[in-house]
Amino acid sequence: MGGTVETKLEAFSAVPIFPTMIWASQLRPDVVARINSAFTMVLEKARRKQANLEPKGKWQTDQRLHTLPELEEFVTLTLGLCRHVLDADKIRYRDLQITGCWANIGFPGSRHRPHAHPNNYFSGVYYVKAPRGGNTITFIDPRPQAGVMVAPADQVSPGHAQNITVDVHPGSLIFFPSWLYHSVDDNRSREERISIAFNVMFKPFVEDMSPPQWEGNLKVSQD
Ligand SMILES: [Fe+2]
Repeated sequence: MGGTVETKLEAFSAVPIFPTMIWASQLRPDVVARINSAFTMVLEKARRKQANLEPKGKWQTDQRLHTLPELEEFVTLTLGLCRHVLDADKIRYRDLQITGCWANIGFPGSRHRPHAHPNNYFSGVYYVKAPRGGNTITFIDPRPQAGVMVAPADQVSPGHAQNITVDVHPGSLIFFPSWLYHSVDDNRSREERISIAFNVMFKPFVEDMSPPQWEGNLKVSQD
């Protein structure tokens, strides 16, 4: 009757049956240089046109950056990564589309409260500027029941953490299921944080439901 537990088993598995994925890339430096210079030019032009905006809090551009020809490399890369994930997961689909893409310029002290991105499949963010002290994004455990019993743990683990904070850098591109709640901590640096947010949806769903239902305060697109 004695012996350790292990001696009594033929097999044992811990199986992640409903995992929540985030897909994180760091782009190569030459690609970062090109894409960041394209975003910087677009944003500088927009800022010159609207010099009356006060440099505090957070600015958000309108949401059609993906339609600008100078940002084509970013759009193609983003959609390519999304297709890669769908193909690896054997998802059946015809085509994908970016339904909204906008820049967030976060001045020191700015943050973004927990939110999700309804009516899309993937959402994500690319970092043009992520100064130290303003270089994180936090994801919130999507299982409400999990917060009923929070056992003390010696280290943060995706299996039992309530929030997971990820460090980002200029050139980081992270995307995740659009329903996953996330937030951005205070920008504790003295510099601007510039991130590019985007939503991606299956093309046949797109026309009315998926584009953002809000307006930014920094005008970029030409309509
Ligand atoms: Fe977001």
